[in-house]
Amino acid sequence: MRIAFVGDVHGCVLHALGALLAWQDNCGQRLDAVIQVGDMGAFPSLERMDQPSRRFAAENPAQHDLFRMLAPTGELESAIRRAMTLLPPVLFVSGNHEDFEWLAGLHGGAGVVPIDPGGAFHHVACGQVITVAGQRVAFLGRIEKPGKMDLDAAAYARLMDVEPGSVDVLVTHDGPYGMGRDWLGEPVGSPKLSRLIARLRPRLHVSGHYHHANGPRHYGPTVSFALAQLVYSKVNRHRPDQDNPQQRVTPGSIGVLDTETFLFEYVNDDWLAGVCGDEFDLAGATARSARDYRESRL
Ligand SMILES: [Fe+2]
Repeated sequence: MRIAFVGDVHGCVLHALGALLAWQDNCGQRLDAVIQVGDMGAFPSLERMDQPSRRFAAENPAQHDLFRMLAPTGELESAIRRAMTLLPPVLFVSGNHEDFEWLAGLHGGAGVVPIDPGGAFHHVACGQVITVAGQRVAFLGRIEKPGKMDLDAAAYARLMDVEPGSVDVLVTHDGPYGMGRDWLGEPVGSPKLSRLIARLRPRLHVSGHYHHANGPRHYGPTVSFALAQLVYSKVNRHRPDQDNPQQRVTPGSIGVLDTETFLFEYVNDDWLAGVCGDEFDLAGATARSARDYRESRL
């Protein structure tokens, strides 16, 4: 079976669905599950967005697409419905840019809940271990940044208590300590996640947050990958080489695990650039995809 992993979405949910459909169309295979590593940009309204998210969305209109998905009208509603006949729902964990209160209110005690009327995106609470495409997958969102944010203490404790070796895949938003360096040359990452990886010994660890592809890195028996941001901003003040005026999907922002071989591969293909625009045309993408799917079954 195949599980796709998606990097930080920051509201660009239609690009996410479009890129997953394009992967299926171009690879001639179906995905069995999709997991997103946090920073979905899950805010219920513009007013509830945090300041940085609001600032970025003002310059990058596709970052408002999550709001359109929460209250879809006419054509978009049927495009999402059609997309979900072609794709598995996207499971996601919290990043550091979500409305945590709103998400907690949706759960009502359930470990996994849909956030949108079309059931395209499902939030997974921190500390859950669930079976996804036959794999035991543990989820732990948020980041460890002293003075700013921390991992969910109870969820962390629960996962530290899980039998080592019983989890196949660990999904986190932050990454292990020392996985890279910031622009000042200081190591980034979470010491707590390093300890969790050492304790759980999953076969695969996938994370996001730093917005660049980074991996494979090896920690004992675990191979770890970080994903790029799904759609880079139009203007990157620190990295002008990453300016993205056409709002194309970033190479390295999606990875696919084949659960039989346990091979994880970044998606870097040229066709990713075709998933683009301030207003991604999901209706057109689903129509193309449905036609390809029908033809492949003839
Ligand atoms: Fe992010």
